This record gives sequence, C-alpha cells and structure tokens, in this order.
Amino acid sequence: MPQLYVPILLGTGREGRQSEKVARFVLAQAKAAGLDAELFDVRDYGSAVTIPSWEKNPCAKQWQTAVKQADALIMVIPEYNHSFPGEFKILLDSLFKEYVKKPVGLCAVSSGAFGGARMAEQLMPVFNYLQMVWVGPPVYFPKIKELFDEDGNIKDDSFLEKLKKLFADLRWYSAKLK
Ligand SMILES: Cc1cc2nc3c(=O)[nH]c(=O)nc-3n(C[C@H](O)[C@H](O)[C@H](O)COP(=O)(O)O)c2cc1C
Repeated sequence: MPQLYVPILLGTGREGRQSEKVARFVLAQAKAAGLDAELFDVRDYGSAVTIPSWEKNPCAKQWQTAVKQADALIMVIPEYNHSFPGEFKILLDSLFKEYVKKPVGLCAVSSGAFGGARMAEQLMPVFNYLQMVWVGPPVYFPKIKELFDEDGNIKDDSFLEKLKKLFADLRWYSAKLK
C-alpha cells in the first residue's frame, strides 16, 4: 500500500484549547494506520489579518508546501458560535489552487452535545468552493472535556473505528483523484 502524506491541521490557536487533544489523538492513530501524517498548528502559520493567495506570505509558506504535497488533508476544528475559528479561516484563505481536488476529512470538536455539527455545516460550502473533495461524514467529538483522561487517552474506543473508516475513505478518494 503506498504511504499517503496527510497533513493534519489543528485549527484553533486558543490558549487552553481542548482540540489539541483530538489533534494529537488523530495524529497517533493516523501514524498507526500507516499514513505519513504530520501535525500543523494554526498558531505557527497564522497572520493577524488576511493575506490572500496572490500575495507573498512567508507565514504560510510551510502550509503551502504541505498542501501542495498532500495526498489528503485532515482538519481538526472546534465549533465557535456555530462556526469555525477566525484564525483557521485566515490560514485557509492564504492558499487557493493548492486545495483543488484534495480529499479532506473533518474532525469536529465541541464542549456541547452536537460535536461541532453546526460548524461542519458552515465549513462544507467553504471546502466546496475551494474545490476540495469532502470525505464525510465528519468525525464528531462532542462533550470534549469528558472524552479524554488526564494522560490524553481517549475513553471511548468507538473513535478508533470512526477514524479507521475516515483514513480508509481518504485513501480511496486519494487514489481515485490522482
Ligand atoms: C468563542 C467560542 C465560541 C464557542 N461556541 C460554541 C458553540 O457554538 N457550540 C459549542 O458546542 N461550543 C462552543 N464553544 C465551546 C467549544 O466547543 C469548547 O471550547 C471546546 O473545548 C472546543 O474548543 P477548544 O479547542 O477551543 O477548547 C465555544 C468556545 C469559544 C472559545
């Protein structure tokens, strides 16, 4: 099986973010599943204001290289006021053509019971406009504060299967889109 390069973007820079636990869990599972996965933190690449894809943007250079080389992408995004974090959108908007035909999987995070479902619905048309290929359904991580123990281990094993399916679907779409 060819090894797929899959950047995983942690899409919030918030101090104390719970989503980091999800991103680290997804990274470990992706590696265990044989993907060449790499974690990208929006904190490291964001600019304070939008720098569009047609302007020089040294901040986003590494993200640009990663997306160009990616066989598929995974985004770990929390729900903020029924939408996605602003810093994530600023980074997303720093590229354009690099996203075309890239399969993208979403891990949606919330402290509430819906697991970021409202955010996912807001994000779907944005990915669609960017001509990414949405590999659904998203993996929802609800009630995030209760989902991991103190060592960062997930308490609910059903997420292992959900992620396995996501990785298999990303492989399938990546092969079809090549
Ligand atoms: C600005 C802001 C808005 C939020 N809005 C929602 C929301 O609409 N729905 C929800 O379930 N949780 C909401 N939350 C709670 C987050 O889901 C919660 O912080 C969770 O831990 C995931 O985000 P985190 O990675 O920043 O911790 C919000 C949090 C912030 C900081």
